[in-house]
Amino acid sequence: MRFAIIPGDGIGKEVTAEAVKVLAAVERTFGRRFEYEHLPWSADHFLQTGVTIPSNGYDHLRTFDAIFIGALGDPRVPDNRHARDILLGTRFELDLYVNYRPIKLLDERLCPLKGRTPHDVNFTVFRENTEGLYVSIGGRFKAGTDDEIAIQEELNTYKGVHRIVRYAFEFAKTHGLTKVCMADKSNAMTDGHALWQRVFRQLATEYSGIDATHYYIDALAMYMVLDPGQFQVIVTNNLFGDIITDLGATFQGGLGMAASGNIHPGKTSMFEPVHGSAPKFAGKNIANPIGAISSAALMLETLGLHPEAAAIEAAVLKAVRERQVTHDAGGTLGTREAGDFIAAAVTR
Ligand SMILES: NC(=O)c1ccc[n+]([C@@H]2O[C@H](COP(=O)([O-])OP(=O)(O)OC[C@H]3O[C@@H](n4cnc5c(N)ncnc54)[C@H](O)[C@@H]3O)[C@@H](O)[C@H]2O)c1
Repeated sequence: MRFAIIPGDGIGKEVTAEAVKVLAAVERTFGRRFEYEHLPWSADHFLQTGVTIPSNGYDHLRTFDAIFIGALGDPRVPDNRHARDILLGTRFELDLYVNYRPIKLLDERLCPLKGRTPHDVNFTVFRENTEGLYVSIGGRFKAGTDDEIAIQEELNTYKGVHRIVRYAFEFAKTHGLTKVCMADKSNAMTDGHALWQRVFRQLATEYSGIDATHYYIDALAMYMVLDPGQFQVIVTNNLFGDIITDLGATFQGGLGMAASGNIHPGKTSMFEPVHGSAPKFAGKNIANPIGAISSAALMLETLGLHPEAAAIEAAVLKAVRERQVTHDAGGTLGTREAGDFIAAAVTR
């Protein structure tokens, strides 16, 4: 297996080092050989060279079995153009239409919701990852004046909606799950989200064993807090998925705990923690590496290395239960020490 590693900015660099440390433990434990190519694409690299991603960058990424990204974002690049090219660019250019975000509580103590246990918080959000409001269609007229007009369009295509909704139903079916909930705002966004309604209803008829339900996104946010146990699979658009998975991350113990995959089935996919570069935390050895390490587990799982992925998940669970974790997760360890514990806990 060959992996492209893009540590990126801020704490991205620190948590990526821990994820690679744990992958190395998997190599030793399972007698596997992974190759890593570290790519320097980041704010530092952009500020030094003026290049966000080289002209053959996306083609180069396609040559790997998977891509791992730490985080991108740096106050020295106020428009975050490097992040747009490296992160959003990779999602769009490699057509990584599935944003896969498990919301799984590992330990009751980490959940801010009263009385909720791991049994109540265990669902998966599939966020459409290549369309919606993030396609940069729009512009500003008379920018900077009192007459400014700002327009940003939301793109919804039949193909785009159909493939993410299909993926959510297929995931439920292959994982023995019985519920898929679609969330939109079709009461107010009566054109774009009518398409989501039509596709969801159409596909639901093909999955008779699955209870297909719908919530408007505002109600969904409320029910996630009030009764998270009712959800198994949620499918939604790019913007709403972005927002509700940060909410979901808090159920898991915070942004430092949450993992994600950006997937195009059968093609090179990209894995990253949900959090950003947290510039205030950078260089202090305090960032929680679990989101990154769990993203490495998702990467191996997606590549079919199931025992290896399970070994990482078990090691993370042990760290959380024994409080061998960073402060945000109730421990006293630094980023590197938390990574050391998890790497040492990886066993067959
Ligand atoms: N996928 C990405 O690369 C990504 C995602 C979100 C934000 N960003 C970028 O990151 C920069 C900072 O954004 P932000 O502050 O809104 O979000 P952020 O996720 O970087 O941090 C928000 C807060 O969450 C907590 N947090 C995040 N990661 C943590 C970790 N590993 N361990 C412990 N606590 C953690 C911290 O309290 C932090 O202040 C911005 O430039 C933003 O554009 C990048």
